[in-house]
Amino acid sequence: MNRVDYLRISLIDRCNFRCQYCMPEGADLEYVKQQNWLTYEELLTLLQSVFMPLGFNRFRLTGGEPLLRPGMVDLVRAIAALPQTQDLSLTTNGFLLAGMAQSLYDAGLRRINISLDSLDPDTFQQLVGGRGRSRWHEVWQGIQAAHRIGFSPLKLNVVVIPGVNDHEVLDLAALTLDQQWHVRFIEFMPIGDPWLFSNRGWVSSEDLRRRIRDRWGLTESQVLGNGPADVFKIPGAKGTLGFISQMSECFCDRCNRMRLSADGWLRPCLLNETGQIDLRTPLRQGKSLADIRDQVAELLAAKPDINYKQRESGVTGSGAYSRTMSQIGG
Ligand code: GTP
Ligand code: 5AD
Ligand code: SF4
Repeated sequence: MNRVDYLRISLIDRCNFRCQYCMPEGADLEYVKQQNWLTYEELLTLLQSVFMPLGFNRFRLTGGEPLLRPGMVDLVRAIAALPQTQDLSLTTNGFLLAGMAQSLYDAGLRRINISLDSLDPDTFQQLVGGRGRSRWHEVWQGIQAAHRIGFSPLKLNVVVIPGVNDHEVLDLAALTLDQQWHVRFIEFMPIGDPWLFSNRGWVSSEDLRRRIRDRWGLTESQVLGNGPADVFKIPGAKGTLGFISQMSECFCDRCNRMRLSADGWLRPCLLNETGQIDLRTPLRQGKSLADIRDQVAELLAAKPDINYKQRESGVTGSGAYSRTMSQIGG
């Protein structure tokens, strides 16, 4: 059985972008009330007394957009300082990163994954929504700042959508030639906007690899990471290319993670609500931490069955996932 030691922690379910594939403009999302967010104190208690004793030692902060959560730099500092923390990382849309990257680094964060779905500011703006100042330029500044400050590995996530950005795949892959950046292509999943998915469909990682191989060649490679990406490299390039293939390949049997939502629900599987448990209520009711730990241990034991149910129903299923990535935490 696979060791489950990676916890993805969603700090907030709100986002300052409205990515079409995630939480499109006009979508009627119900946000978690602020009083129901796990406080940093509660989160640290859960990490130290529940998750770490059960073997979790790799943590990723996600959202919504995690940089929107007030005081998150202090949380980064606190988690980075725990002796059991072996890896701490962040997934962000990058919009607020330029102004925060140095404080995050000083607080002990060393690696970041940033979404960058297009190199064209107009296409980008259409994808992420909003008007006014160019969001692409802000994100690009954020990426440059993270690079300059020394975050490593620095990963750029691209959700590939046919007819929207798939014609940019070679240009995005070319970013790895001269910079030590790691570009990851993610197969579009039917989470979020069902209209976009059913109208556009998705492109397989194999198809993308073929296009890249035809242009430059491609060899297997490696980069530090806990996620499901298969890693390759253009011969001679400084960075790598990752492929996250949740549509064409089921990687559930190597699943090593659980997800904790901003309001304290622990979810064993991204695509499946089976088994999720509320940790906030027992914590606030003063239930013993040993009891909460036992509950989580039970869920860990049940996780392989929960994963395999997903496998049987197929990731490419109906698209009727009831929560968006911003609510689940990516
Ligand atoms: P590394 O530790 O750097 O490898 O990060 P990661 O790939 O775990 O994190 P990131 O937040 O960058 O995730 C990128 C994408 O991978 C997500 O947006 C999802 O599309 C996909 N992904 C991550 N975890 C899962 C998972 O458990 N199941 C599925 N189906 N997809 C996942
Ligand atoms: N399909 C694939 N990836 C998605 N993400 C959000 N929605 C989807 C989807 N429908 C990705 C974002 C980001 C990560 C947190 O989740 O691009 O990289
Ligand atoms: Fe893990 Fe569920 Fe993702 Fe499969 S679909 S890799 S079981 S979270």
